[in-house]
Amino acid sequence: MTYKANFRVWRGDVEGGELRDFTVEVNEGEVVLDIIHRLQATQASDLAVRWNCKAGKCGSCSAEVNGRPRLMCMTRMSVFGEDEVITVTPMRTFPVIRDLVTDVSFNYTKAREIPSFAPPPELEPGEYRMQQVDVERSQEFRKCIECYLCQNTCHVVRDHEDNKEQFAGPRYLMRIAELEMHPLDVADRREAAQAEHGLGFCNITKCCTEVCPEHIHITDNALIPMKERVADRKYDPLVWLGTNLFRR
Ligand code: SF4
Ligand code: F3S
Ligand code: FES
Repeated sequence: MTYKANFRVWRGDVEGGELRDFTVEVNEGEVVLDIIHRLQATQASDLAVRWNCKAGKCGSCSAEVNGRPRLMCMTRMSVFGEDEVITVTPMRTFPVIRDLVTDVSFNYTKAREIPSFAPPPELEPGEYRMQQVDVERSQEFRKCIECYLCQNTCHVVRDHEDNKEQFAGPRYLMRIAELEMHPLDVADRREAAQAEHGLGFCNITKCCTEVCPEHIHITDNALIPMKERVADRKYDPLVWLGTNLFRR
């Protein structure tokens, strides 16, 4: 069954832009990215859109559809009414390059700021042993496809450009939590999580978790346990004594 959908797509660049209206054909089983591709093929050949796999696995096609951060390739047209106007805009938290493409390099910067996995020096690769429960915890976090929808959604940076310097965002706080909870990681990441990566900015609103296309429990399984570990450290009497003796 074919029909014509009303699309409103943001077009512009770093200088500014506007929403433009288009009427585009929709066929049964199609997703928003199919319609954007048809629009590009038939009416707006210079429309910039980033995509790769069309299977929800590369994390490239992130955008905001009717204001909700989503992967365009995983958003079925059947979730919208045929008369509905479907608005597609670029992710708001990152600077626009052109049309639906944003500059997500903020995320790469934050990724580089996290010290990598630090196994015990005496262990050779192949000698690592850990319990299945620890493997499963890491595996959940490793489902991340780096779509940055969580980074785009978190109000700490979405509405406050100034916070970008001090806040790593949910995806990278989750990475720190993954390493901190890893039984073979010998680094203590708690102080840095709070002081350098802005864990304290997170007030567990869970918006990041709601938009994650991989359904990772970012808040419950990474951010809250990390906050608990930081609090433990703060109220650990030995740490308190050490810190206060050191200060004298
Ligand atoms: Fe995307 Fe989820 Fe990874 Fe965030 S944690 S970047 S929402 S896959
Ligand atoms: Fe932001 Fe997620 Fe915390 S949306 S405030 S990082 S729970
Ligand atoms: Fe790869 Fe959408 S095109 S996740």
